[in-house]
Order: sequence, then structure tokens, then C-alpha cells
Amino acid sequence: MNIIFVGAPGAGKGTHAKKLSEMLNIPHISTGDIFRDNISQQTELGIVADKYISKGMLVPDEITMSIVKDRLSKEDCDDGFILDGFPRTLVQAEELDKFLEGKNRKVDYVVNILVEEDVLIQRLLSRRVCSQCKSTFSLSQTCVKNDTCPKCGGKLVKRDDDKIEIIKERFISYHNQTEPLLNYYAARKILRNAKGMESYEQTLKNILEAIDITK
Ligand code: AP5
Repeated sequence: MNIIFVGAPGAGKGTHAKKLSEMLNIPHISTGDIFRDNISQQTELGIVADKYISKGMLVPDEITMSIVKDRLSKEDCDDGFILDGFPRTLVQAEELDKFLEGKNRKVDYVVNILVEEDVLIQRLLSRRVCSQCKSTFSLSQTCVKNDTCPKCGGKLVKRDDDKIEIIKERFISYHNQTEPLLNYYAARKILRNAKGMESYEQTLKNILEAIDITK
């Protein structure tokens, strides 16, 4: 199954895409994670991407397209994939369609996780990421007692772009450049909305139902 996760910043794309990828045994590909790995290693890509990400702007399409095409060409994507945070512009969506068509493949579902904007902002401000295993948590979770990762004991940190002034810019980018994709995929009848304001477990159930998986 080839699945895309869209949704505003903080909607829970990463959290639930990771769970679904484990359930379906297909890779979870997050362009945000790829950029952040490159930024932390100070690669050429990371240095360029950081100039945009640190301002809450989208990384240019040609850069983003090239890393996604490379990643999707790997053998582990042959049986399906979950794209998280990609595509984010109409150009990226059209390029992705062309790329998949060339391989006789297509996107099966586009999952749009629905969360109200004030809740999203609170979630982003409460998010903590493990500096070691990269797992994501929220300060609202009872397993998060201090700044120690409940999974591996690594140090929990805030993401650099989870500051209120950058969050506001990320929302502007989302509304202007990414929201139009919802109509693009609705017209292809592959858009599936999933309620995302409920618990983690219920949200995952909503997503599974939306893509016709009964577990
Ligand atoms: P990216 O990393 O994709 O950021 P984003 O889209 O802003 O999304 P987030 O990662 O912030 O949120 P999420 O929806 O994954 O939520 P999460 O699961 O963590 O991109 C970062 C930047 O990279 C972009 O701004 C852009 O500059 C660049 N970029 C990336 N892709 C690009 C592209 N295609 N083109 C151009 N540029 C690109 O959850 C958030 C929090 O909520 C967590 O703490 C979580 O524990 C909590 N939570 C989740 N679900 C629930 C729930 N049900 N109840 C309570 N809390 C919950």
C-alpha cells in the first residue's frame, strides 16, 4: 500500500505514520526527519535545508523531490511506503504522480489528520524528541516524567522549529502551499480524513478505518 500523510504541523503525522509503518511492515519516510538528520550531520543538504526550516519556510521543490525520488527508488519501498510530510506543494504532488506512473504505481490513500489549530500549537510547544533514539513524546504523556526518554534513557529536547514565532510561519506555509493539495487528492477520490483530536489509540483506529484496514 502506498500512503501519504498530510495535515497541519503537529497533527500527529509522524507519531501515527510510524505506528502504521510497523503494523504494515512498510517504510516510514519523513522528509522532515531526513532534513533534520542532514542538519545534525551538517551535510551540504542539511546546510541548505536549515536556511529554510529555521524560518518555517518550505525547502525548495527541486531539492525535496530529488531526495524523495532517491528514497523511493530503494528496494524496501517495492511493497509500499508511507510518506510523511511529503508532498507539500502541488508541484511536488504532480512530480510524485509522474514518478510513480513511470513505475506503474500510484498513491492509494492520502490521510489527512484533522486537529484544531489551537490544539496543534499546544502540541508543538509540548513536544519533546529524544536526542538519541529520535522518538517523539509530549509533556502531557504520563510516561514523560523529566527530560529523559522513557524508551532509551536519552535526553529529551525541543525541536528547533517548535518555537512560537517559527510555528506561526509554518502554519502560513501550510495554509498557502500545502492545503491546496487536499482538493487535488479529493478530486482523485483518494483523500481520507481522520479525526485526530482523540487519544493516540483512538486516532490510530480512526486512521485505520479511514484506509479500510480492520484490525
Ligand atoms: P516536518 O518534520 O514534516 O514538520 P511538520 O509537518 O510541521 O509536522 P511535525 O513533524 O511538526 O508534526 P507531526 O504532524 O508529525 O506531529 P507529531 O506526530 O510529531 O517538517 C519540518 C520542516 O521541514 C518543514 O517546516 C519544512 O521546512 C521542511 N520540510 C519537510 N518536508 C518538506 C517538503 N515536502 N517540502 C518542503 N519542505 C519540507 O505530533 C506532534 C505532538 O503531538 C507530539 O508531541 C505527539 O506526541 C503529540 N500527539 C500526536 N498525536 C496526539 C494525540 N492523539 N493526542 C495528544 N497528543 C498527540
